[in-house]
Amino acid sequence: MLTYNDYAESASALCRKLGGFCPEVLIILGSGLGNLGDRLKDPVAVPYSEVPHMKYSTAPGHKGRFLAGVLGGKNVLMMQGRLHFYEGWAAEDAVFPIRLAKLMGVEKLIVTNAAGGINTEYKPGELMLISDFIKLNAVNPLIGPNMEEFGPRFPDMSKVFDREYMGLFRSVAEAHGERVHEGVYFYCTGPQYETPAEIRAMRILGADAVGMSTVPECIAARHCGMRILGITLVTNMAAGILDKPLSGEEVIEAGNAASERLSGYVAEFLGAME
Ligand code: HPA
Repeated sequence: MLTYNDYAESASALCRKLGGFCPEVLIILGSGLGNLGDRLKDPVAVPYSEVPHMKYSTAPGHKGRFLAGVLGGKNVLMMQGRLHFYEGWAAEDAVFPIRLAKLMGVEKLIVTNAAGGINTEYKPGELMLISDFIKLNAVNPLIGPNMEEFGPRFPDMSKVFDREYMGLFRSVAEAHGERVHEGVYFYCTGPQYETPAEIRAMRILGADAVGMSTVPECIAARHCGMRILGITLVTNMAAGILDKPLSGEEVIEAGNAASERLSGYVAEFLGAME
């Protein structure tokens, strides 16, 4: 089990490797969206394996490194590749980078992901701002002794996603003619895709998209008081909506196809955010 000192040790090690760079925003890049890093001016890269106590990424399309640099006039720390529970990491390991970033001074999180569209109005390639999530009984990163240094035992989750950030991102993307949905993200641990019956059940429960990431990170980030923008790229329609099987390749391809577009919006958003 990680101690507060472990997080502090990692934060100072990463700061040292970044030459004292102080990030303001953490950006987590989802499947196929990793090339937002190409927009950083003179980035410094640090592989996760060089950060004490940090696990590594094994998911396809996830490079497994931090990139630090300036984008839209903001000091940003990017994660090219995230850690998922389905990779076998413990709950606290998967959200480790959130707490690490918090100790480096980060108060803002932009989290992106690829997800399956449950809402039949959605089309692959479209964006959804996450307005809320449903996790129900899946794994929770806050189980275990609470670390009061990060936040309270029973953190409030009534407004996980920052309304101001959502409005700002919407205006940036819509100015480029983008159709921007707003919806509820349903978290499943994966790694198998859902069954059609599960997708029908999720729709009845009020979900618009389904994916295998983001929610644990957002829980840890709200626990320590960060402001969050969550952006979902609908890479496919969820199981049973179309008469075809789902595949990881399709998700990566759709991510790559949207990556440039989404990167541009995020860069503009950063330039405009307070
Ligand atoms: N289900 C779960 N996770 C996903 C999907 C999906 O359909 N597409 C991309 N990530």
